[in-house]
This record gives sequence, structure tokens and C-alpha cells, in this order.
Amino acid sequence: MVSPSWIIQKKRDCQELKSSELKAFIRGIQSGDVADYQATAFLMATYFTGMTLNETVALTEAMLESGERYDLSHISGPKVDKHSTGGVGDKVSLILAPLASACGLKVPMMSGRGLGHSGGTIDKLESIPGFNVNLSSEKFQSVLAHIGCAMTAQTEKIAPADKKLYSLRDVTGTVECIPLITASILSKKLAEGTEFLVLDVKVGSGAFMKTRGAARNLAKTLIQVAKKLNLPCRALLTSMNQPLGYAVGNAIEVRESIEILKNEKNEEFSSTDLKELTLQLCAQMLNLGGISRTIAEGRKLAQLRLADGSAWQVFIDLIQAQGGDPSAIIDSKKIPLAPIEVQWKAKKRGFISRMDTEEIGKILIGLGGGRKKLSDSIDHRVGLAFHKKLGAKIQIDEPIVTVFATDSQDLPALEASFHTAVEISRARKSVPKLVFENYTMR
Ligand code: URA
Repeated sequence: MVSPSWIIQKKRDCQELKSSELKAFIRGIQSGDVADYQATAFLMATYFTGMTLNETVALTEAMLESGERYDLSHISGPKVDKHSTGGVGDKVSLILAPLASACGLKVPMMSGRGLGHSGGTIDKLESIPGFNVNLSSEKFQSVLAHIGCAMTAQTEKIAPADKKLYSLRDVTGTVECIPLITASILSKKLAEGTEFLVLDVKVGSGAFMKTRGAARNLAKTLIQVAKKLNLPCRALLTSMNQPLGYAVGNAIEVRESIEILKNEKNEEFSSTDLKELTLQLCAQMLNLGGISRTIAEGRKLAQLRLADGSAWQVFIDLIQAQGGDPSAIIDSKKIPLAPIEVQWKAKKRGFISRMDTEEIGKILIGLGGGRKKLSDSIDHRVGLAFHKKLGAKIQIDEPIVTVFATDSQDLPALEASFHTAVEISRARKSVPKLVFENYTMR
């Protein structure tokens, strides 16, 4: 192999890397010939200089080839997955996988852990007692065939290079990078064997892409690379200008998802944006997979399967099939939250006009709900339950959020950050749309 430092220098100096060079570098990361500090230097060089489309395709292929690729052709039905580019309070996958499956799709879902300030589906699922997120290939395929969806983390065998780079990016400031996000997402999706993909490209204060222009570039790159690698896909550009739904944190987001799946109204939460986005993404999946002729027809089917309890039943079956304790989800209050409960209250009256959603994600990490370095373990029980969303009227001393913590020591500093992150203004400001644009592969 060419020397790793030579490849790093070439990237640093904005020279296009050949496919063979990128592939050798990724193989070296796996074999240990490329040290973690060299992998990190390469990530940082890529962060600053970017990649051409050819390089991004080669990186995606290299990461895909680092492990096995599942062949799901023996499982009947269209296989359609959804992946989000990362946000705060984004628990859509937990509701969407069983819902899409209840509508007739097969959903092979391979997800990640928290990345940077954003949450990860795998961390959330691990707050369900007993639930196994490390499925072998055989188990993943058998759960998919029998239940209609399966949710797993990467194993050492499937896109292991992404697993390694993902955790390095998480703690080295190299997350917000279009080619790295593209290769990370698409290598996993190609490896899991899905036939179609719907992408939820987040934009706004809590997304990796803060502007519409940057999010559009990410969506276009994802679609171009997917096209080159023969994976039909669509992308929606959706708002991450406030947490999705009301809950932020691992266990508490599972509770909120259960409430939607069970069709419970105004128990702990009453999310409309979360349910709406889930329905829209499901409608896209159903249309892309050929179950519905139009998006509107797909949406109707999704609404029906949510309302008649079929999606909830699939979720119970999924939890059971993956070793989880169904009694914990049937009574979701059995999924424990952290013992210290405090409210952070408005310091003035007015309207919630802006949220620095990335900062809210960092507050969760500060509570122990995310990782600051690779070896950190997380506390699934900590979290935030919002009482107010953007546009809401608020009185002085009215609670904006209830916080669940295990340690009171850091709470004053975190509360100060929270008040900077959540702006209250005298006049009501318009709330950004939930879905801005959509892109289809041509
Ligand atoms: N999701 C992923 O799987 N990878 C990223 O880089 C971002 C979101």
C-alpha cells in the first residue's frame, strides 16, 4: 500500500485521490496498517478540502466492501428503508419501521449511534430492556422475513469501516462533511440489502447542514452517488430548527414513539410534527416501493395502519423478536427515566421564537445522554421533555422543559446554556415549514 501519510497529504493538497488509493487506505484502517491518528488526519483533511463525486463514490464502495453485503432476494416484498442525516429528538425510525412494515413493505434498517450533537436510533433502542441491537446476518434476515422489519447496528462484518470512521468522526469534529456523511449512510444502506431508500435530509439549527443550500448539496450528492451505485432513492429536505416532537433523550424518545404508535393522545406528549413527518416519509416509502400508486394514497394507508393498531402490533412483535421485554413497552413508564426531575422556566413572557437545536443536543450530552469521547458510556435515562415548541405563547415562570438528570452538579450551567439556546420574543415569529423540498432520482 502507498504510505498512508502520502494519501493524507494528497487530500490535504486538494488533489483527487484515485479509487485504488482510497480503497487501499480504507483497507488499511481495517487491518490496522493505518493508525487512528492517520485516519483522523484524513477525515480532517476531507472535512476542509471535500471530495469530488468520483472520490465520494469510491469512498462509499470502499466502505461497503469493508464487510459483507446482505442478499435479501429470498425475502418476499419490496425492501425499502429510510435514513436521516441526523438531528435532535429524531425518533422517526422507531415509529416508521413498524408502520411501513404494517403497510406491506419489508424494512431492513441498519442504524447508527449518536453522532456529534445528534441522537442515534441504536442508542434509543438500547433503552428498551433486553433489546438486542447486534443481530447476526441470519437473525437480521429472519426477523425481517417474519416481522417485516428488523433494526440493527453495524456488526464487525457489515460496513465495519463506517463503524470505525463514524466513531472517530463523532469525537474529532469531522461530522459535518458532505462526502463523509454520504459514504457513511450509503455504505450501510447498500450493505443491509435494501432495494429502495428514502432520505430525510435535515436542515436548520440542529442539523449538520445549517442552510438550505448546504442541505440541498447533501441531498444531491446522496442521490448522485446512490444512482451510480444503483440504489433508487428520494430525499426530503426537512426542518431541524427545533427538536422533532417533544422528547430529547434516549429512553424518553422511546416513550414518545410508543405514545404515537399506540395512538395515545396527550398523555405525556402531543407531537404533531413527529407524526406528520413519519406519515410523509412512510408515504414516500410506499410509493417508491410500489405499494401505492401515489404519495397521497400511501399517506392514507399509513394513517389507517397507525390508527387501527397494526403498526403498534408490529412494534411489539419486533421488540419480542429481538429479545426485548414487551411488558416494558406495553407500559412505557417501565422504561426508566433519571431520578432528578427539574423544570427550566421562562424568564420572561412572550413567544418561543428560535431554538439553537444543536445546543439542545449538546445539553443532552452534558446530562450524560451522549458521548464526549469514544470510550464514554451513556445514560439512557436522562433527557428533556419540552412543554413548548416554536411559536408557542409563554408566561413568565412557566416551564419550557422538564429535565431528567442523574447528577445535579452540572444543572445550573446547563440551564444557563438552555436559556441562551431558547429565545423568547415579544412578537410571534413564523415557524419554519416541516418539509421544504423533495428530490427524486432521475
Ligand atoms: N447518519 C449516518 O449514518 N452517518 C452520518 O454521517 C450522518 C448520519
